[in-house]
Amino acid sequence: MGRWTLRRRLVVVVVALVAVVAAAMGTLSTLALQSSLTTQLDEKLTAAHRRAAEGPVVPQGGTARAPDAGSPFVTGGSFRPGLDAGTVNVEVPQGADPTDLTPVQAGYVADDGNLTALDDTQTAQMLAVPADGQPHPVSLTGLGSYRAVASVSPAGVTTATALPTTSVTSTVTSFVAVEVVVAALALLVAAAAGLVLVRRELRPLDRVVGTANRVSRLPLDRGEVVLADRVPARDTDPATEVGQVGAALNKLLGHVEQALGARHESESQVRQFVADASHELRTPLASIRGYAELVRRSPDEMPVSALQAMSRVESESERMTALLEDMLLLARLDAGRPLASEPVDLTVLAIDAVTDAHAAGPDHDWRLDLPSEESLEDALVLGDDHRLRQVLANLLSNARLHTAAGTAVTVRVRRAGDRVVLQVADDGPGIPPALRESLFQRFTRGDASRNSATGSTGLGLAIVHAVVTAHGGTITVSSGPGTTFTVTLPAAVA
Ligand SMILES: Nc1ncnc2c1ncn2[C@@H]1O[C@H](COP(=O)(O)OP(=O)(O)OP(=O)(O)O)[C@@H](O)[C@H]1O
Ligand SMILES: [Mg+2]
Repeated sequence: MGRWTLRRRLVVVVVALVAVVAAAMGTLSTLALQSSLTTQLDEKLTAAHRRAAEGPVVPQGGTARAPDAGSPFVTGGSFRPGLDAGTVNVEVPQGADPTDLTPVQAGYVADDGNLTALDDTQTAQMLAVPADGQPHPVSLTGLGSYRAVASVSPAGVTTATALPTTSVTSTVTSFVAVEVVVAALALLVAAAAGLVLVRRELRPLDRVVGTANRVSRLPLDRGEVVLADRVPARDTDPATEVGQVGAALNKLLGHVEQALGARHESESQVRQFVADASHELRTPLASIRGYAELVRRSPDEMPVSALQAMSRVESESERMTALLEDMLLLARLDAGRPLASEPVDLTVLAIDAVTDAHAAGPDHDWRLDLPSEESLEDALVLGDDHRLRQVLANLLSNARLHTAAGTAVTVRVRRAGDRVVLQVADDGPGIPPALRESLFQRFTRGDASRNSATGSTGLGLAIVHAVVTAHGGTITVSSGPGTTFTVTLPAAVA
């Protein structure tokens, strides 16, 4: 039952309750009917017993234990009229030997009014009834069940009279049958009405669920979020339980909307701050670089150690400028600044990037794998030429800096349906497993990169990811031994 729906549970409980009530009422009323019918029968029995005990039921000397077919007791007038059909009567004469049934007169009034003799077993069963004048249940073999009264007259004659309980049994049986039919109908009605009612009452819950589902499908993880969807007002009546759920959900949605709004607001502020700070730092950095260069250009006036320091200042300020440019770019991409959208040929970009990489890292084995000549225009995408060049440059500089000399690096461009696929694959050592989860997050870099003098910051792949995503593309990485970055961009429609 734990996994049943509320609807089913409610209906089952209602039906079960109706069944229990019907069973209890049926049992009680049947018992009451039976006891009142038995009381009536007992009154009739006592009256019959009195009549039977008042005089001989059979004529003196009659052979009541084996009467003839044309019963002498009725025709002869000696049989006491007024004994109903079915009445059993047994009479033991005064002073008879209890073990000897011969003088005992025992018979019952058959349905046709004739007195029919009892056999010895039935007679013995009648005589076993306690002679206390009270009705007792007795079962007569071959005749069925009876209520019997026995008494001993002052003269010493024992009389036992019995009436069949068939009337009681049949009345009770038909009563029970009627009750069962009525109870079954009541159960059917309860089930049908319960189903309809529960369905109707719980329908607002479906609408609440619908609202919750629609909201859960909204992208809430970034950007400005508008949670316009609410549970309709008619399902938020606090007087009903379902209404309370609806109202609570609305309250929750309002709260979440407000919280997300506040978060978005503070995120934008931080982003703006980073962008502004990066931007503001560019000018002083340019001055530092300029002065350092100036000093380096006039070596005669400077001791050698100061010149060395100046050249360090120059190179560090260059690094810092690059870092600031990266941070500024990320802040702008985060803010959703629109990128240029011009046709860009990835083949051209790949050729240029590999040429540059070759110049920067002649010790690596740079390879190009481009589409065949005729299908060159297939590698056209709509986007920002400068940013896409940066994607390639970052991927190639990674392949150069994070692999050993002699490593083969292949840049592959292919058209796949309505997408253009760009792959940068190297057969180097692969990405360290610890980095794989957070590879595209900011400032993720391997320990080796941190210690090397390459000026690694860990922003390269974060920028690649942000630029590709801003172009509506995806980037994945597979790394066993060797590393393959796969960038997929929507192809420009010709
Ligand atoms: N082709 C590759 N082979 C092996 N490791 C790689 C490769 N590309 C990236 N990595 C690992 O992933 C890390 C993150 O790369 P990412 O380009 O984001 O940062 P970076 O190269 O360290 O610094 P930045 O590019 O900002 O100068 C690197 O530090 C390096 O450990
Ligand atoms: Mg890098």
